[in-house]
Amino acid sequence: MTKVFQTQQEKFWAGEFGDEYCERNVGQQRIASRIALYSKILAQCNNVSSVIEFGANIGLNLMAIRSLLPDTELAAIEINKSAVEHIQNWGGTSEIYNTSILDFTTERSWDIALIKGVLIHINPEMLPQVYESLYRASRHYILLAEYYNPTPVEVDYRGHSGKLFKRDFAGEIMDIYPDLRLVDYGFVWRRDPVFPQDDCTWFLLEKSICECRIRI
Ligand SMILES: C[S@@+](CC[C@H](N)C(=O)[O-])C[C@H]1O[C@@H](n2cnc3c(N)ncnc32)[C@H](O)[C@@H]1O
Repeated sequence: MTKVFQTQQEKFWAGEFGDEYCERNVGQQRIASRIALYSKILAQCNNVSSVIEFGANIGLNLMAIRSLLPDTELAAIEINKSAVEHIQNWGGTSEIYNTSILDFTTERSWDIALIKGVLIHINPEMLPQVYESLYRASRHYILLAEYYNPTPVEVDYRGHSGKLFKRDFAGEIMDIYPDLRLVDYGFVWRRDPVFPQDDCTWFLLEKSICECRIRI
């Protein structure tokens, strides 16, 4: 039975465009650049034993994190079936949720909730729901890396309209959840001579009232 999605953006990523994206975005250089990024970010995080990525695609971020934190439990949420198959073939995650982030519910939480290059593709009306989901899934940190713009704008995405939106995602999350503290932020650049990556601005946010402290 064909799955009926709530938004045109989910249908787009679950379908042919998403399948082709998985074939295009491969390669060791992509993993190396991510290792460079996450080594800088993870050095600022304490006691990370679990990470969940929202919109993990074929798992390049999780592969990079695995090489830096070999004993950490990794989980992925991903709407595209072919991407999920890639992650399964890699075998580095303990849980894979082949579902839309908009349908994802769980009782558990992870030390880091990671989202990179995905909020920009979510229907803007659904962002508050995704922010809530990220906040709930995070036991300690939220790490997001997206295209930044101080005000919301839509831009063309490979000839498609209604599929790419830039805004201040981190600022919006911090306004909704005032207990979030900014640990650090930065920019990665496609013209970096050694570790190029699609341009994005990353933000590491920490829950000041995190479950790990409550447990103590
Ligand atoms: C631009 S890619 C980024 C992939 C990965 N985060 C990275 O940094 O390489 C966007 C990914 O998010 C997934 N995605 C988009 N909307 C989603 C949704 N509503 N639920 C789950 N996954 C989604 C897509 O299928 C795709 O794998």
